[in-house]
Amino acid sequence: MIFTVAIDGPAAAGKGTIGRAVADRFGFRHLDTGLLYRAVAVAGGDPVEAARHLTPEDLQRGDLRTLEAGRAASRVAALPEVRAALVDFQRRVARSEGGAVLDGRDIGTVICPEAEVKLFVTASPEVRAHRRWLEVGGDAGRVLAEVKERDARDMERADAPLQAAWDAVVIDTSAMGTDEAVEAACAVVARRFAKRT
Ligand code: CDP
Repeated sequence: MIFTVAIDGPAAAGKGTIGRAVADRFGFRHLDTGLLYRAVAVAGGDPVEAARHLTPEDLQRGDLRTLEAGRAASRVAALPEVRAALVDFQRRVARSEGGAVLDGRDIGTVICPEAEVKLFVTASPEVRAHRRWLEVGGDAGRVLAEVKERDARDMERADAPLQAAWDAVVIDTSAMGTDEAVEAACAVVARRFAKRT
């Protein structure tokens, strides 16, 4: 059974939490594709070479979740050769037997336009910055500036910019708790899954 759930959206909108929960609920694999770009960014040296030689161990590094790694990731993610080097791996996971959930920026638009479910998970910049601040701490104003800067870079890049696929279901989590957001996503997936099987 091939069944792909593509979850796209801006930084700290809740894609990862929703992605993991959907994968658990339906017994699908989960790939946080942001980790690929973060791992390329922290690898050092030529990012294109790093993307071409990325290994599963590189995704286990403990320093991938920092603000700095996120900022550096959005810089290397603007390089078309880096993106191209990561396409095949993501497509293989997306169409692997047993179902898969991938979260990122371009899953429903570029990596897997044929995904059975496309979700665009978003929230206001202030809400997203607050959530990120709860994770990383530090200066709240700086975290908000960082979120806005990263949104702009991800939306304005020429190659695979962040945007909702025309057929994505938009879930705005600004006024939702985690459980509510997870249930909203699972309801969409369950409807499509039932139709398919
Ligand atoms: O967790 P958070 O939403 O803050 O970021 P992430 O998903 O780990 O992604 C980090 C950066 O990688 C993003 O700002 C994007 O520039 C880039 N990225 C991308 O271009 N395409 C993806 N499919 C996933 C991430």
